Amino acid sequence: MADFDVIVLGGGPGGYVAAIRCARLGLKPACIDDRVNEQGKPSLGGVCLNIGCIPSKALLDTSHHFYRAQHEFSAHGIQTGSVEIDVATMQQRKQQVVQTLTGGIAMLFVKHKITHLKGRGTLLVDRRVRVAYPDQSQNAEEFSTEHIIIATGSSPVALADVPFDGKRIVDSTGALDFDAVPKRLGIIGGGVIGLELGSVWSRLGAKTTMLVRGEKFLASADQQVARAVQKDLGDEGMDIRLGARLMAAKKGAKLITLSYTDADGEHKLQVDRLLVAAGRRPNTANIGAEAIGLKLDARGFIDVDAECRTPLPNVYAIGDVVRGPMLAHKASEEGAAVAERIAGQQPEVNFNTIPFVIYTWPEIALVGRSSEQLQADGVEFNSGVFPFLASGRAHAAGDINWF
Ligand code: NAI
Repeated sequence: MADFDVIVLGGGPGGYVAAIRCARLGLKPACIDDRVNEQGKPSLGGVCLNIGCIPSKALLDTSHHFYRAQHEFSAHGIQTGSVEIDVATMQQRKQQVVQTLTGGIAMLFVKHKITHLKGRGTLLVDRRVRVAYPDQSQNAEEFSTEHIIIATGSSPVALADVPFDGKRIVDSTGALDFDAVPKRLGIIGGGVIGLELGSVWSRLGAKTTMLVRGEKFLASADQQVARAVQKDLGDEGMDIRLGARLMAAKKGAKLITLSYTDADGEHKLQVDRLLVAAGRRPNTANIGAEAIGLKLDARGFIDVDAECRTPLPNVYAIGDVVRGPMLAHKASEEGAAVAERIAGQQPEVNFNTIPFVIYTWPEIALVGRSSEQLQADGVEFNSGVFPFLASGRAHAAGDINWF
C-alpha cells in the first residue's frame, strides 16, 4: 500500500485547496511545501497568502484610506489636519493579516489530518516523491503515493539587463516590503502587479512612472474600461508611458537611470526604486518533471488536458504551472476539481467564466470575452453601459466617474 493516496506538491491556493478537498472526500493526502516566513516558521498559502494577493490587498487598503483622508475627507466636513503615513505600522498590519491567514491554513491542515511535509519535493518515477528538508537534522525521505498533484506555482521573470537586487531593483516581493515611500518609483510592465503595487506607492506619495511596452494600456481588457482607468490613474498622479521600450538601466550610488524610447524618441528617467513586473514563469525547472517524463512547453508550462491530467497516469498539474490565467482562484478551482476527480466524481470547470479583478481604485472586474475580442471573433453582440452617474449610491459614496 502506498504511503499516501495523494501527494500535493506545493501549498498555495491550488495545492492547499486540493489537499483539503482530498481529505474531505476521505482520501489520505500529504502536502509538500517548504516556504517559511520571516521568523523561519513554516508558512502555508504560497505566494498568494505570503507575498502576493493578500499582502498587496492589505497595502492597497491602507493606501486607499490614506488617499481618501488626504483628498476626500474635507468634502465630508472631516478635518484631519495634515495626514501622515507610518510605513512601519502599515507593514506590521500587513504582516498580521498574512500571519492570521497562513495560520488558518495550518489549522485547517491539522483539522483535516493532512500531513504537511515541510521540505522540498522532487518527483521520482513510479509515483514516488523525495522530500529534502532544509535543516540538515532530518535526512531526505521518499514516499509512495497513488496520485500526484503538481501545484508549484510561479515566480517573477527577471529581465536580463535589469537583475533584481532585492532592495532597489525589486520584484513584487520587494515592492511589498519597502520600509519607506520611495521618492520616485519606476515600474517596468503595465500588467496587474505593476498597477496594483504602483497604485499603493503612488497613493502614498511616490512619484510613480510606469513604462508600458505595448501601445495600448491593459490591452487584453475592454478598451472603454482601460481608457477610463488610465485616465483616473493619471489624474491620481501615476505617469503612464505607452509604447516605452527599455534600452538600458544603470544603477548609480543613489539613483537608477533608465533609458527608453517611445514614439517621441529617446528618454531618460531617474528613479530611487524600480519595480520590474514583466510577468511570471511557472516553477517547473527543479521538481524532476522532465526526469519522470512530463513534457514542458518552451515557457516551462506542464502539458495537461482540460481536466488537468498530464500524460502520466494519476499525475495532475494545476494552477500557475499549466495553461490559462495565473490566478489564485483559478488554481483553487482546478485543485478542488482534481481532488473530486481522484475521488471518482465528475466535476467541471468552466474556463470561460473565470473572473479577473484588478484592485486599483476603481477596482476593475472582467469576465469572459471583451468587446474587442468578440469583434475579432466575429460574434454579434449587444453591449450595455450603466454609468454610476445615474446611481444614487455612487453619488452618496462620491464615486460617480465609473460605470
Ligand atoms: P502581466 O503578465 O499581467 O503583465 C506583464 C506586463 O509586462 C505586460 O504588459 C508585458 O507586456 C510587459 N512586459 C513583459 N516583458 C517586458 C519587457 N521586457 N519590458 C517591458 N515590459 C514588458 O504580469 P504581472 O503584472 O507581472 O503579473 C503576473 C501574474 O500575476 C499575472 O498573470 C497576473 O494575472 C497575476 N496577478 C493577478 C492579480 C489579480 O488577480 N488581481 C494581482 C497580481 C498578479
